[in-house]
Amino acid sequence: MKKRVQTNIPGLDELMAGGIPEGHVVMISGLPGTMKSSLAYNILFNNAKMEGKKGLYISLEQGRDSITDHMACLGMQHTDVESLLSIVDMGYLRLHMDEHNGGAENASWIDIFKMYAENMHEKTEYELLVIDSLPVIELMARMDDRRNDLFHFFGWLRELGVTTFIVSETSEDAGKVLEEDFLSDGIIRVKKERQGQDISRQLVIDKMRSTKHNTGLFTLLHDGKEFRLTRAIGE
Ligand SMILES: Nc1ncnc2c1ncn2[C@@H]1O[C@H](COP(=O)(O)OP(=O)(O)O)[C@@H](O)[C@H]1O
Ligand SMILES: [Mg+2]
Repeated sequence: MKKRVQTNIPGLDELMAGGIPEGHVVMISGLPGTMKSSLAYNILFNNAKMEGKKGLYISLEQGRDSITDHMACLGMQHTDVESLLSIVDMGYLRLHMDEHNGGAENASWIDIFKMYAENMHEKTEYELLVIDSLPVIELMARMDDRRNDLFHFFGWLRELGVTTFIVSETSEDAGKVLEEDFLSDGIIRVKKERQGQDISRQLVIDKMRSTKHNTGLFTLLHDGKEFRLTRAIGE
């Protein structure tokens, strides 16, 4: 039996036999505002705080300060886990690369990304990685053969030997099967629904390899301090 990474989100680990198998590449998918980034960060934060596990959060779309401010609003002070959880803003790096070479050498951007993640792995030996987000990786790497490029990207991730969460902005309503959905080991999908004046969020585990997992729809709640999952109303 493989060891599992616990999310430590009340209600979630028990839906997937105790957690996510180590080494998995898991998609966290949903439309903007479904709290994907918050959820991914929360998993790293909990693992740092409760298990002493090291994590790396690579952001490509949101600045570092914006992330730490938002997470603080959700009861997660980065200063509490600073020595274990690194946040890097690769979007910033990309912007400045373009300034230096006038937008040339775009093909090598993904190599710089990989080199950075590998070097950090050698240096800090992080066990958990978040990449936020896949659409921005594609944009920055100018993937023109999506199927082939993603296949190699996922292969590289598996060789890195960490457990990875990839944030993706897709919705299942798009009506087609995406490469990342069959390349990944797991898919956690978050949905948003308007209920009168309020928005309610739902979570479903669509896929988790090597795991007997629940496939039901659960309500994702956040009380300003922590996430919690409950049975969706009407289920
Ligand atoms: N206490 C809170 N402070 C700030 N935002 C919150 C809070 N509770 C819920 N949110 C929601 O978090 C959302 C942003 O979360 P985020 O993880 O960035 O979403 P995503 O990555 O899916 O776009 C906001 O749209 C807001 O509705
Ligand atoms: Mg986000």
